[in-house]
Amino acid sequence: MLVSDIVESVKAHRCYSHPVFEHWSAGAPSAETVGALFHQIYNFCDSTRPGHNLPTALQQLGLSTGGDLVQQIVESEEDHGPQLATMAGHIINRSAGRTVCKDLSNQAAVESTLKECSDKLLGMLPGYDRKTGLMPQTRKAMAIFDGRRKTDEQSVYKNLGTTLALEIISHRQLIPGEKHCLVDSGLYGASLDEPEMHYLKEHFGETGAEAMHEQHAVEALVSAIKPANMGLVKQGADDFLDSVAALWDLLDAALLESGVATKAAAVR
Ligand SMILES: [Fe+2]
Ligand SMILES: [Fe+2]
Repeated sequence: MLVSDIVESVKAHRCYSHPVFEHWSAGAPSAETVGALFHQIYNFCDSTRPGHNLPTALQQLGLSTGGDLVQQIVESEEDHGPQLATMAGHIINRSAGRTVCKDLSNQAAVESTLKECSDKLLGMLPGYDRKTGLMPQTRKAMAIFDGRRKTDEQSVYKNLGTTLALEIISHRQLIPGEKHCLVDSGLYGASLDEPEMHYLKEHFGETGAEAMHEQHAVEALVSAIKPANMGLVKQGADDFLDSVAALWDLLDAALLESGVATKAAAVR
């Protein structure tokens, strides 16, 4: 197996072509539903940013090129939390047709609005954690990134596989999916040139942050790979893809396709 085979296997996984964002744009969900969707997605994205011990663990294994490349990805993620909060609050305001989030630069206030929406719409589902407002599927996808604290060789290779899959999905499914439902759908009258949409503009396309991350993740893996560790890399990629596909399934079922958005449309 080669690195290019792993890349192809990520693109063949059902997570890569998951219709959750098409269903978002087709379902035209309520502002509250948008808030609940953002709460789960926002927290998941948050968990993917810290590198924890991965860059130094790579250095310690003598894989300094890989360590440098992963460190550059981590550094480019700085400030993305506040920018995502601004975009989420802006979309909720547009969706509601009134100002729900008054101060889009107040990250904590936007976060608490998102959680309120989530509590209201998902709070009765089994396994919902009232404290964080997270579903088990969200927590499971987030927990994969705790693995970056481990510094043993096996964990490091698994983490390289997770990083590769994360960056391919971010660049080719998640960010284009968000652009599709937030901008192209016309649901929110939003454009990439609005300052509130800076997060999406910075991440989207071949000159965006995710294209750079994907390239760095591939190069990090190419520089570090030993044939004997390919299985671990594939495992790390699959753990991520399976958990994110389960998260997209949940959001789709509970909030979009067969959930409140469709039901609301039916009563209208
Ligand atoms: Fe980011
Ligand atoms: Fe990324």
